[in-house]
Amino acid sequence: MSEAHGGRRVLMEASGGNRLNRRATESLSCQRWPLFSWFLFLLGLVFLVWCCIQSSSTQWESSSLHEYYHRLLNQSRRVPLPPPYRVYPKHGLKPTEPSEGPERPTAPPPQYHPAYARNYHFIMDHPEVCRTRAPFLVLMVPVAPQNAAARDAIRQTWAAAGEVRGRAVLTLFMLGLSGGAGVQEELRREDLLHRDLLQSDFTDTYRNLTIKTMVIMDWLATRCRAAAYAAKVDSDMFLNVHNLVSMLQTPGVPAADYLTGMLMWNRPVVRSRASKWFVPEELYPGPRYPPYALGMAYVFSNDLPHKFVEVSKSIGAFNIEDAYIGECMKELGLAPAAPPDPAQFKAYSPRYDRCEYSKVITYILGSPEELLRAWKDLKKPGPPC
Ligand SMILES: *[C@@H]1O[C@H](CO)[C@@H](O)[C@H](O)[C@H]1NC(C)=O
Ligand SMILES: *[C@@H]1O[C@H](CO)[C@@H](O)[C@H](O)[C@H]1NC(C)=O
Repeated sequence: MSEAHGGRRVLMEASGGNRLNRRATESLSCQRWPLFSWFLFLLGLVFLVWCCIQSSSTQWESSSLHEYYHRLLNQSRRVPLPPPYRVYPKHGLKPTEPSEGPERPTAPPPQYHPAYARNYHFIMDHPEVCRTRAPFLVLMVPVAPQNAAARDAIRQTWAAAGEVRGRAVLTLFMLGLSGGAGVQEELRREDLLHRDLLQSDFTDTYRNLTIKTMVIMDWLATRCRAAAYAAKVDSDMFLNVHNLVSMLQTPGVPAADYLTGMLMWNRPVVRSRASKWFVPEELYPGPRYPPYALGMAYVFSNDLPHKFVEVSKSIGAFNIEDAYIGECMKELGLAPAAPPDPAQFKAYSPRYDRCEYSKVITYILGSPEELLRAWKDLKKPGPPC
């Protein structure tokens, strides 16, 4: 559009130049004031050249302005934080300085907050799944893109029933980006078959699990607000869904501001650099985490995901996703609650025991095969105990 405008201007100047030119030739033919005519001709020529330079320079300037605005708009789309967002000095999140001064900044100041879920975008999504019927419970499973074996085992076991104790239960898998085009193509085919994959555009690594959790919260907040409860369940878990739904139906279990699981209190922050859970003081200065539910599986009322995403703007990212949720709870003035029967949230079992597995809600398992074996045995006819 501006190019067409600039072009029209150049044309106008050109025709003006021609007029001057013609007048100059007429004057020349009269031979009355040859010197004056030459002067006019040269003046016209200089004017024409000046106009050309002017118009091309405004065109250059407007196109780079477009780029500049585009970049700003792109950046604000990536980081929709309101400029003076809440800052907690202890988390080391820097306040955003308003860029002042006569000079336009060449590059806008970086405002990228790794744990703020809306810095990422869904590239595989199913916004429709909660529209037809709001589930009672949504099971969100963070899983690596390449781990199709874990997803298949879960689909055949605790995700198989869409309805438990008369309540709709929905299971979805959350993935980040990893692997090449081949992996993406396999995921696309897997999703065509099962319609249960969600994928966001962050790099899927262990140290990015907090991002994955927050993207799960963002999905629940924006695509499934009507669900009553949700849970984050790791992909290597045995989950007794029947007992979980039953637990959530227990009288006295809150419908809001509720988070439960295997609770951790007063856990020290790991400062040993060799550890998988090492967190440097720059990321989390305090010596101990607030109370949180162990990341293997925690359950929450579905009003919380929206609050987590909002409060995460003011909490610096660190790589321990369950403790990060604990920190979000703390900032919201909340604390995780003990489940009605704390003995139902179990971590490691010495061996499979049918009676035991029929009573618990969780156990951490070693492999997808172990899950398939345990499930098959648990579901066989006959009383488990
Ligand atoms: C803005 O973002 C879009 C898509 O995300 C991209 O195609 C475009 O090149 C970006 N523009 C600039 C000026 O960065
Ligand atoms: C986490 O994801 C971000 C966004 O994709 C990426 O830039 C970063 O390298 C990842 N961090 C790690 C430790 O993998």
